[in-house]
Amino acid sequence: MPKRVRTAVFPVAGLGTRFLPATKAMPKEMLTVVDRPLIQYAVDEAREAGIEHLVFVTGRNKGVIEDHFDRQFELETTLESRGKHEALAELRKELPSAGHTSFTRQQEPLGLGHAVWCARDIVGDSPFALLLPDMIFKASPGVLKQMMDAYEEHGGNVIGVEECDPKDVASYGIIERGEGPDKGFEITGMVEKPKVGEAPTNLFISGRYILQPEVFGLLSQQTRGAGGEIQITDAMHTLMKQQRFTGVKYDGKVFDCGSKLGFLTANVVFALDRDDIRDGFVKELRALDLSEQIEG
Ligand code: UTP
Repeated sequence: MPKRVRTAVFPVAGLGTRFLPATKAMPKEMLTVVDRPLIQYAVDEAREAGIEHLVFVTGRNKGVIEDHFDRQFELETTLESRGKHEALAELRKELPSAGHTSFTRQQEPLGLGHAVWCARDIVGDSPFALLLPDMIFKASPGVLKQMMDAYEEHGGNVIGVEECDPKDVASYGIIERGEGPDKGFEITGMVEKPKVGEAPTNLFISGRYILQPEVFGLLSQQTRGAGGEIQITDAMHTLMKQQRFTGVKYDGKVFDCGSKLGFLTANVVFALDRDDIRDGFVKELRALDLSEQIEG
């Protein structure tokens, strides 16, 4: 049995430049899809997968994320006195238990790999999950849960992947597929943003990983890669020579909410999927009669 994965790392120290000016003073991870911040979707997914300890790598302007996972006594008292028991119960249910969250700082946004490295002392010598909170999924069970099943079988490192249009490979980190079924095959290589026609597959890495702690040692030796940032892919590339990497082509679909298009689409899809919102939302959309804008 591989060592249990109890800890998840959420890097939330990026600048979110694609979402300016919304992200000038507010973290991208607090943007909401319907009525839940992006970071809440990632945390829910981690908890569904059995994660107990949540590690947030934060930066400037990110205090609000810490507040989001803390108790708000004034709000709770008000909800109580107004008899809004359901909303109160929901808030309390979502609160991580005491002592199960850690916050550390990435003082400068030097890249995702550097953000992960900043969590090394908290994670220690154990495998951990890494979730990029701007990527959220329509998937049941959640993507990390599906990956945990593969981890229990194969151990090592696990990466969630999804198919993209072969014309879009140049926007993604693409993996090379070895032996094994969709739910647990060996990854034999990975390339960052390959040219169309040169990619080994159309399976892209969508922001969910289970990694072994040896990745920290590799990250600490690493110099800045593409875009002057310390990249996680470079470290994984080296680790792949020493340890197994398993790919999971999960059931589900990712929405890249770090981009405006992905974010807007996610809002529509998630709203249409909500029992309490769907009917009203469809009625509003119909009344707008957008067919001309959409077809034209
Ligand atoms: P992104 O590259 O999507 O985020 O990183 P970004 O850099 O904030 O966004 P843009 O491109 O400027 O719009 C994926 C995740 O990694 C975190 C981000 O907060 C995001 O959740 N990240 C990225 C860090 O924590 N530190 C970094 O140095 C870079």
